[in-house]
Amino acid sequence: MPSTYQMCSVLLTALPLVVLLSTPCHSASAAPDLLREAQDLLPYLREVRRHLHTIPELLYDLPKTSEYLRNQLDKLGIAYKHPVAETGILATIGKGTPKFALRTDMDALPIEEDVDVPYKSTHPGKMHACGHDTHMAMLLGAATLLKAREAELPGTVVLLFQPAEEGGAGGKRFVEAGALHGVLGVHGIHVWPGIPAGIITSRDNTIMAAADRFWVNITGRGGHAAMPHLSIDPVVAASQVVVALQPLVSRETSPTDSAVVSVSEFNTGPGASNVISDSVSMSGTLRAITTSHFERMRDRITEVIEGTARLHGCTADLKWSEQAYIPTINDGRMVAMVEAAAQKLVGAARWQRMAEPTMAAEDFGFLADAVPGAFTFLGIQNEKAGSVHGLHTARFQMDEAQMPLGAALHATVALDALSSHSAASKATKEEL
Ligand SMILES: *[C@@H]1O[C@H](CO)[C@@H](O)[C@H](O)[C@H]1NC(C)=O
Repeated sequence: MPSTYQMCSVLLTALPLVVLLSTPCHSASAAPDLLREAQDLLPYLREVRRHLHTIPELLYDLPKTSEYLRNQLDKLGIAYKHPVAETGILATIGKGTPKFALRTDMDALPIEEDVDVPYKSTHPGKMHACGHDTHMAMLLGAATLLKAREAELPGTVVLLFQPAEEGGAGGKRFVEAGALHGVLGVHGIHVWPGIPAGIITSRDNTIMAAADRFWVNITGRGGHAAMPHLSIDPVVAASQVVVALQPLVSRETSPTDSAVVSVSEFNTGPGASNVISDSVSMSGTLRAITTSHFERMRDRITEVIEGTARLHGCTADLKWSEQAYIPTINDGRMVAMVEAAAQKLVGAARWQRMAEPTMAAEDFGFLADAVPGAFTFLGIQNEKAGSVHGLHTARFQMDEAQMPLGAALHATVALDALSSHSAASKATKEEL
């Protein structure tokens, strides 16, 4: 593989020249044309995104979302397989090998939307607060661009519409369903409000953390708060647990490595100021950059919680989710391809290599673990568009004007991956 890929990067560097010399509107990699065409698609992308925004659904339970996407694929004349992982869709454009995959997530969050827009969520308590509505629109945009070039496609583009990114490990289910079988690589995009609008960024190796969630009940014996010696106070024990977890990061994680242990919920139940409750329930999250440290931290959290509870005469019942996320690890050669595509589309100034990974997690990690992958962030921070609020907040808003860029980036990466792979294997055959 390495020699094939070295050739890819040589070809990629030569591409802009090739594009200039050959007929630009015909070339599979005419990135500026793709961006122009994608910009013409903005009304369509907006319509798709806004419709999906009104019907947010959770995890695998996505009947309306899935149906709407299939209707759009039907209109575009794109063939698909359904269901994959319950409500997911696997669509294809072109035929034969090589194959390259583009992925969007589909699910929303259990958040009550706090933004007054005409396309506000019509599902109480649910909101597309992580931009997956935008990701779906951008993938349909890329599908439109690629469908128009289907006759010239040197292989197949596989479109993955994947449920349950928000904690359900839908990416893992997609891999298990064989969605990446025979695929040479996969590209995913996440809109990112912390990055200025129109900037494309990614990095080699780990881009997002491994993550798991835990729930714990610390049980003592309740009583009158005026006679604490007659009870076993779970509030004091649970407070000690929170404190005892902190050195796992400050003392047991290498200063040059990263981990996060956050206790995010702490609930003593319906009490009163003069009542010591029977138990305290807590929940929290663990994040780490490497799988080995992640697993060590998970064992240590268990030990520290159980040991600290026991020390205070309490018991601890601890549960981990059954859906731990592995880190998202980008393939360097795939990132080089995204870099080349981004530079062709918007110039070097709007492409940035991320200095550090984020401790947020993504089930794209399962896809990138199965085949070489690149996960890319598209900046959407824009005050004029109201896109200043964080992901997973009730006020999250999208700078919709960035959607064409996401669509064009997806399409460019897929076209370049397919054509450089075909060219490289042809060159290898000729050498033989
Ligand atoms: C904590 O207690 C509640 C109420 O009894 C129960 O529903 C929940 O499953 C318990 N959690 C754990 C981690 O044992």
